[in-house]
Amino acid sequence: MEKMEAAAPYNQSTLIEMESITKLYRMGDTEVHALRGVSLTIEHGEYVAIVGASGSGKSTLMNVIGLLDRPSDGVYRLRGQEVSRINRNRQSDLRNREIGFIFQRFNLLARTSARKQVELPLFYAGVSGGEAKRRALEALGQVGLAERAHHRPDELSGGQQQRVAIARALVTRPSLLLADEPTGALDTKTGEEVMALFETLHQNGLTLIIVTHDVDVAARARRIVTIRDGEILSDERRDAPQAHHNGVVHAPEMAQSEEIFHALV
Ligand SMILES: Nc1ncnc2c1ncn2[C@@H]1O[C@H](COP(=O)(O)OP(=O)(O)OP(=O)(O)O)[C@@H](O)[C@H]1O
Ligand SMILES: [Mg+2]
Repeated sequence: MEKMEAAAPYNQSTLIEMESITKLYRMGDTEVHALRGVSLTIEHGEYVAIVGASGSGKSTLMNVIGLLDRPSDGVYRLRGQEVSRINRNRQSDLRNREIGFIFQRFNLLARTSARKQVELPLFYAGVSGGEAKRRALEALGQVGLAERAHHRPDELSGGQQQRVAIARALVTRPSLLLADEPTGALDTKTGEEVMALFETLHQNGLTLIIVTHDVDVAARARRIVTIRDGEILSDERRDAPQAHHNGVVHAPEMAQSEEIFHALV
């Protein structure tokens, strides 16, 4: 049995609670303090951008939040449960159930159709066969790619590849979506498509945390956390951003915005 933390009073609206999280990397004789005591609380449904210079600790923080890496010290509670020191199997179960990831380079498998990529996390979650196929096609439809289900990554544009990755992240119906530079490899227009999709996901209640170098991308979030040298430098909440100059938030293949999330979350 793992040691259980005494049940702390837990606010139901809180998804993530980090207290004094540190991450120390040792490389031979040198030590890198990637995180130096990060305390951060994120409520369900928040849309947060994490910004900061290269090497400031953004990806390290995302990896800790996403249970891909353990902190050296500190407390991390997800839905009120301390998760940084539970065993790796329980961490990956929790990750599979609660968290979707999106990376800059999409991380899609070559020579594998969009549908099969999106089915994969379902197999890990124990959903297979016809049900997995149905849900994968549904998720692809919801990111506007129903017509591309049989295409392989090399037969898709960059924005479409990233939308396959988003469908793959959402098909398990996670409560939290983590994106590390999701538009970093995209041109402005395709980046805009992905941001429009994030906006819809946010409006439908998903919790979103996005790491970005791009001020325009950060400006779409409702909260901006700035990291410097492994510490939080500022944490600002803001109102919904204004619509774009022409008054329209661009979402070419995603007109069914109301529907997008209902089956996903
Ligand atoms: N596995 C590792 N081993 C050793 N040092 C690491 C490791 N991963 C990250 N670091 C170091 O930790 C610090 C924070 O790295 P991190 O990847 O979190 O930065 P980042 O803010 O995501 O930067 P970028 O914007 O360039 O992606 C850096 O100094 C980096 O060199
Ligand atoms: Mg990084």
